[in-house]
Amino acid sequence: MHPSEFPSRSPGHRRRTIASPKLGFAALVILAGTLPSTCFAQRSPYTERDGRRIYLERCAVCHMPDGSGSSHTDNFNSFPPLTGMSEWMSLRQGQRYVAHAIIYGPYGGLTVNGKFYFGMMPRFRPRLDNGQIVAVIRYIAEHLNAPLPGYVPIDAKLVEEARRAEDTIDAVHEARYALPPR
Ligand code: HEC
Repeated sequence: MHPSEFPSRSPGHRRRTIASPKLGFAALVILAGTLPSTCFAQRSPYTERDGRRIYLERCAVCHMPDGSGSSHTDNFNSFPPLTGMSEWMSLRQGQRYVAHAIIYGPYGGLTVNGKFYFGMMPRFRPRLDNGQIVAVIRYIAEHLNAPLPGYVPIDAKLVEEARRAEDTIDAVHEARYALPPR
């Protein structure tokens, strides 16, 4: 469920919980409803539809709605595709790298399927919370790529791990080059 739909925000629910004998818990629920969405990051309340919306609003302008990426000229391919990632998406380290890349915003160039892409991606660390990053990575894994047998969706714990990883482009590149090439 999206935090803006959290039931404790509805006035009816609020009245009922205040009247209930479990006042301590009710107060907690009401308080939780007033906190910013980042507080729900570990619970990953975002749905599949949220993942699609986040992708289309925040990523598709560069990576294209179908994840095919885009090239300006034959020699300058700025936006790498987010397709061809099924193998990474079936590996925990692959999911963690993708989260790290989204949080950090890589630059400096990378090779996908023998083609060099070069540009600069915005930094999403302050713009997306862990739950939103889970939702968008699930959208990439499950809709722009075909999940391999044994695929396990990323969880907020892994995104938090990526958030705490070294916040440098070298660390992002090191994580990428430890993966099988794509
Ligand atoms: C303004 C354009 C832009 C936007 C918006 C953008 N990206 Fe990127 N993205 C890039 C560029 C450019 C690169 C390659 C950077 C480089 O040169 O290393 C990249 C790289 C990546 C990579 C690394 C791919 C690899 O093979 O290692 C991932 C994953 C990624 N983007 C996901 C996303 C997601 C998810 C979003 C939305 C939340 C997003 N990007 C939004 C431009 C963008």
